[in-house]
Amino acid sequence: MTRLEFPKNFWWGAATSGPQTEGRFQKSHANIFDYDFEKFPEHFWHGIGPDTASNFYHDFKQDIALMKAAGLNSVRTSIQWTRLIDDLETGTVNSEAVSFYNAVIDEFIKNGIRPVINLHHFDLPVALLHRYGGWESKQVVELYVAFAEKCFDLFSDRVSDWVTHNEPMVVVEGGYLYQFHYPDIVDGRKAVQVAYNLQLASSKAIAAFRQVNQHPDGKIGIVLNLTPNYPATTSESDQAAAHFADLWQNRLFMDASVNGEFPRELVDILTRDEVIWTSSKEELEIIRQNTVDYLGINFYHPNRAQAPRYSSDSLAVDWLPNKYFEAYDKRGVRMNVDKGWEIYPKALFDIAQNIQENYGNIAWFVSENGMGVSQEERYLAEDGMIHDAYRITFIKEHLYYLYQAIETGANCFGYHLWAPIDCFSWRNSYRNRYGLISVNYHTQEKALKKSAYFFRELSKTSSLEI
Ligand code: NOJ
Repeated sequence: MTRLEFPKNFWWGAATSGPQTEGRFQKSHANIFDYDFEKFPEHFWHGIGPDTASNFYHDFKQDIALMKAAGLNSVRTSIQWTRLIDDLETGTVNSEAVSFYNAVIDEFIKNGIRPVINLHHFDLPVALLHRYGGWESKQVVELYVAFAEKCFDLFSDRVSDWVTHNEPMVVVEGGYLYQFHYPDIVDGRKAVQVAYNLQLASSKAIAAFRQVNQHPDGKIGIVLNLTPNYPATTSESDQAAAHFADLWQNRLFMDASVNGEFPRELVDILTRDEVIWTSSKEELEIIRQNTVDYLGINFYHPNRAQAPRYSSDSLAVDWLPNKYFEAYDKRGVRMNVDKGWEIYPKALFDIAQNIQENYGNIAWFVSENGMGVSQEERYLAEDGMIHDAYRITFIKEHLYYLYQAIETGANCFGYHLWAPIDCFSWRNSYRNRYGLISVNYHTQEKALKKSAYFFRELSKTSSLEI
């Protein structure tokens, strides 16, 4: 047995989001998921939408007490734009929402939990999509920055750690390429503009934060789903596929957020293929100047990039990235069977190396990692607790590689699991459970799982026995 000692002030926590937990406490002002559910309930698993979620709006005191019992010293959630702002054009705030978010922040702090606040978790107000074309529009960028400023104004006296977006690439791919988020568009040119505008919005929000932040330790970052792309084989075409996938999926936001510029090679490809975004010199200067203080990295699984058989030598034939990483042969690979995701913990070590080598060893934390399991009631034991040994193993394996990374100089300051409490998962609704704390969706009863006791020990000792 060896004991892995993590830094004493390490963040041991978990991440979730407003739209996935709160429930729809105001019927007006729908975000894109509220709207999607109203119009197309069949898009959602068992026709269950985000109306109740895990009832955090009503249960937050109890939920935060349970998070404390699970040993969490930091928790990321998000403020919903649709809930906070009553009039999207003028920015007048909703007083009920202000009281709610104030009470949540105070409750976290009272319980010794650092609140990490994200400003955008896929939950664009649908009115801005219909009125302006959503993230395709620079007007929406400005409205988002005004919303962000309002949040800094209202809450940065107590909240030190902020996030501009969660997984912006998912907004691009889900909404504009692969149809797993509303508005379900397939349009490469739009996807590229949306990506650029999301980056611009992040950089502008960072600039605003630096003007108005009230917290002496105030920091602002972005949460990216950094997915290592390994070539599926050693063939040249698969290596090229991995390289392109990395440029598009990872480096677009990483390079711009940390180093202040988009990767030249990607810009050249998009320009040559006539899908490049509309930008101005001034905007690019804003992006150059307003880089992040830290990064959150969401890691679930790597990609094994494989060039399709019909691939030519040129990446230009069809720039849509889909083409470059088709489904690969998964035999012989350890999978999370319920999600169909490969389990490959060493990727965390590779991510850390990449940050050390290419991003100036910027401070970062694992902002999401986790395991979604369907029908988790299967593991409910007689003691009334879910015995999720698989989740404990999953966490341990990832921490093993994170520890190795820290030993070799990674500037990693924390580990957040997705999620503290089982919650709503977009169109998958409640199909897969991720929490340290379970929710019985019939009774709304919540209880610590076995993994919560494991996590409590981890956090208390900041160490892990393997
Ligand atoms: C990433 C997202 O940030 C979150 O919203 C989602 O539910 C989890 N991963 C689990 O898939």
